[in-house]
Amino acid sequence: TVPIVRTVAELRATVAAWRRERLRIAVVPTMGALHEGHLSLVRAALEKADRVIVTLFVNPKQFNSAADLAAYPRTEKEDAAKLALIGAHMLYAPDGAEMYAAGFSTTVSVIDVSEGLCGAYRPGHFDGVATIVAKLFLQTGADLAFFGEKDFQQLHVVRRLARDLDIPIGIVACPTVREEDGLAMSSRNVRLSPLERKAAPRLSAILFDVSERLSQGAPVGDTLLAARQAILDAGYASVEYLELRANDDLSPLQSADRPARLLVAAWLGDIRLIDNVCVRPE
Ligand code: PAJ
Repeated sequence: TVPIVRTVAELRATVAAWRRERLRIAVVPTMGALHEGHLSLVRAALEKADRVIVTLFVNPKQFNSAADLAAYPRTEKEDAAKLALIGAHMLYAPDGAEMYAAGFSTTVSVIDVSEGLCGAYRPGHFDGVATIVAKLFLQTGADLAFFGEKDFQQLHVVRRLARDLDIPIGIVACPTVREEDGLAMSSRNVRLSPLERKAAPRLSAILFDVSERLSQGAPVGDTLLAARQAILDAGYASVEYLELRANDDLSPLQSADRPARLLVAAWLGDIRLIDNVCVRPE
């Protein structure tokens, strides 16, 4: 089993004891409903650190609709069993009152990298993410934090906040884990109907195809326009964005003349899916 910690005080006491033993500590922030994507972060953390804290908190401040928050899968028992099996050292799962006491008044807001892409369609989302991630960094005092490239813009937001606020934590990025058919693993995938689940992997297939074309020099504007239509033809209800951005700072690109990322958000029925792939210039 994995010890489950509910309070900041107990978390701090355990971390202090680990510190006295000079152990290297990693944190893996999650909202639970753990799948292989999450577990890949925990395994990477176990390789780089002596103690791994997995956090589980479904953060209300980063949801844009009450319905999405209510529908978010909650499977703490199963999550704890999976973590025990792979050898994580602590599951830190505080409740809402522990994280946001009455009168909570502070927001961490990162400009620039949080604008555009998901930031344009999910107002306040990255403020919610930045605020909770800053709290988790400060509560755990970890040396390293592990994040997935699946949420590429979030990764940039988190890097920027750690740097800007001088939080002494190393941010480690891990590659996106996919189902066998290419669909990026996501806690929301369980909400897809069987028919939607069949259509879903067309999104990543199109991304990989477009990435290949762009790295061979295809014109960005026309290629992305055609790809948007291909996503709709695959059965997606709408495409929020499909954009080429620089890998290192997310600035918009007119051509794949430097290491780049192709990022997408699209709706399949009433489920919003995001994905991204790298685009290598020749
Ligand atoms: P959540 O969606 O649970 O994701 C937790 C971590 O797992 C994130 O770093 C995310 O990028 C990573 N992840 C999710 N799916 C993945 C996949 N298929 N492959 C690799 N990594 C994957 O992201 C959040 O929670 C929250 O915003 C959080 C950072 C915990 C703040 O509340």
